[in-house]
Amino acid sequence: MLSTCLFPAAGYGTRFLPATKAIPKEMLPVLTKPLLQYGVEEALAAGFQNMAIVTGRGKRAIEDHFDVSYELEHQIKNTDKEYHLTEIREIMDKCNFIYTRQNEMKGLGHAILTGRPLVNQKAFAVLLADDLCAADEGVLSQMVKIYEKYNCSVVAIQEVEKSQVNRYGIIAGEKLDDQCYRVNNMIEKPSPEEAPSNLAIIGRYILTSDIFDLLADQKPGKNGEIQITDSLMKQAQQGKVIAYKFHGRRFDCGNLDGFMDASNFFYTQFKER
Ligand code: G1P
Repeated sequence: MLSTCLFPAAGYGTRFLPATKAIPKEMLPVLTKPLLQYGVEEALAAGFQNMAIVTGRGKRAIEDHFDVSYELEHQIKNTDKEYHLTEIREIMDKCNFIYTRQNEMKGLGHAILTGRPLVNQKAFAVLLADDLCAADEGVLSQMVKIYEKYNCSVVAIQEVEKSQVNRYGIIAGEKLDDQCYRVNNMIEKPSPEEAPSNLAIIGRYILTSDIFDLLADQKPGKNGEIQITDSLMKQAQQGKVIAYKFHGRRFDCGNLDGFMDASNFFYTQFKER
């Protein structure tokens, strides 16, 4: 049974300075909801109840967001403003929030390894809140079905321009059907010449828990960081990673263009409702 979703959320968000000087980048809102709340909602819809968040210094706002705010709630009780809190209250009722802190920035693999004490299942999900996805069926829900079919690690992928491959982990593999590949190669942020394809990993993973021992032994890779891609490659060598081309749209809210696209997309949807 999958029940824990890990949210690495310790990064500095330097591309959004000065907004992220005192506010975690995961708390930047698209319309009225912080990015991280979209991620938590996607995980909840996929059946995860334990939201395991790897935070760092200056990230207290995340814990406060998923907690009761007595003064505020007292003030707006029985007013026409109360409904603004309905969604977040529902989330708080249905989920457990657990936290740990990453005290050094040593890459995504290191962030995931830091979350190890929060995960004690056979497999768990990882969701990067910067990658905001809009889909009829949530991307994590789609991936849970793939995990149940193949019983191994699953990464979500999408095609990107060849000129952009150096921003992503890039996979290659044997095509199993229109949506799935059995991965046999993956490289973190390759140059266009090195890239084995244009299939890029986006911030949704289901990982079997043997990944932790692999991460604990992982030597630093690209940019001197512990890369999840390198440890996944070891699972892939045993045929144990499926890459899944998800249905839906993904917005890279880690940069301004993606963030604006997401805001416009959700605003249009909101206006049409
Ligand atoms: C991380 C991963 C990369 C993946 C990307 C998806 O990179 O290392 O493999 O493609 O997330 O968003 P980051 O964006 O943290 O540099």
